[in-house]
Amino acid sequence: MPTIHYILKDGSTRSIDAKAGASVMETAIHHNLRGIDAECGGCCSCATCHVYVDDAFIDRLPPPDDMENELLDGVASERLPGSRLGCQIVLTAELDGLAVRIPESQS
Ligand code: FES
Repeated sequence: MPTIHYILKDGSTRSIDAKAGASVMETAIHHNLRGIDAECGGCCSCATCHVYVDDAFIDRLPPPDDMENELLDGVASERLPGSRLGCQIVLTAELDGLAVRIPESQS
């Protein structure tokens, strides 16, 4: 069961024992974390699940596919090297300790 650290907009951190196989977005929604809106429900069409992945984990994730990459170009907050869509990050035991920061704005 990977532990995921969500850095919220106010700077506080929520650490959650996530279910392997769930996404970063699903885990956030399930635990009522504010700032991940997930308007499309995870079908990679809204970009309101944007998160900033901690530098230490960027290279441990599969790279974004074309669709995610395109959506990341249109996110509300600035796109940074660690920008990913939370619905496209599937949690595994290997991602234990993953930290993601929720951006200032999703819309
Ligand atoms: S939830 Fe819509 S793109 Fe991730």
